[in-house]
Amino acid sequence: MEIIETHAHLDDPQYAEDLDAVVLRAKQAGVEKILLASVTMHDIGKLKALEKQFPDYVYAMIGVHPQEVKAASYKEELDAFDREIEKDNYIAVGEIGMDLYWDKTTKAEQEIVFRHQVAAAIDKNLPIAIHARDAFQPTVDILKEFDKTKLRGVLHCFSGAPENAQTMMSLGDFYFGIGGVSTFKNAKFTERLAEIPLERIVLETDCPYLAPTPHRGERNEPSFLPFIAGKLAAIYGKTIEEIGKITTNNAERLFF
Ligand code: NI
Repeated sequence: MEIIETHAHLDDPQYAEDLDAVVLRAKQAGVEKILLASVTMHDIGKLKALEKQFPDYVYAMIGVHPQEVKAASYKEELDAFDREIEKDNYIAVGEIGMDLYWDKTTKAEQEIVFRHQVAAAIDKNLPIAIHARDAFQPTVDILKEFDKTKLRGVLHCFSGAPENAQTMMSLGDFYFGIGGVSTFKNAKFTERLAEIPLERIVLETDCPYLAPTPHRGERNEPSFLPFIAGKLAAIYGKTIEEIGKITTNNAERLFF
């Protein structure tokens, strides 16, 4: 079994006590690499420290999450983002995007912050990891402003229709991150997921959130990825090993 975890938050305080054990279990489950999504520039130092702690295994992204965008502080966040991205190497810019589920009042600021970070990713020739919650169209509208031959990345925590995937693929070289939600009994989007080519799918947990069945409700971790691969195996009519291999190749193509 080979797997690449494309979206984890191992800097979360929930791992403070037992991170070594979490990483060991990931390795035992076949996870070959773990990508850490960045949420705020306050924590970017923690992500870089984890990269040093687990060399050639953990890779840090850089990005300001839309939920962290506040009218009073977003300019400072962007200044810090600009400084950090010059200072160090990162595997991708993320997670960035639009979130109108939690807060619609910051829509204008979210657009500014998203646009700025997409431009920076293109400038550095990096892929982007997109968070879009209740905000697919506003996200698409920003991406349309950019040269589609230079845009590449992943729409993280994908649970949309194949038509949404088509739209994304018309805007650039985009992949779709499938996580624990795909294993939930009430997940509707999985009924048509197979219409999206498997060559466009990557695996993710978004841990510590959204643990897959049968761990739903527990703290999530990368070693749970085989449960998601198992669900995809059933959907695509492949073995779990084939799902691991194909999604690993996809992640390698996009990020490495
Ligand atoms: Ni995330």
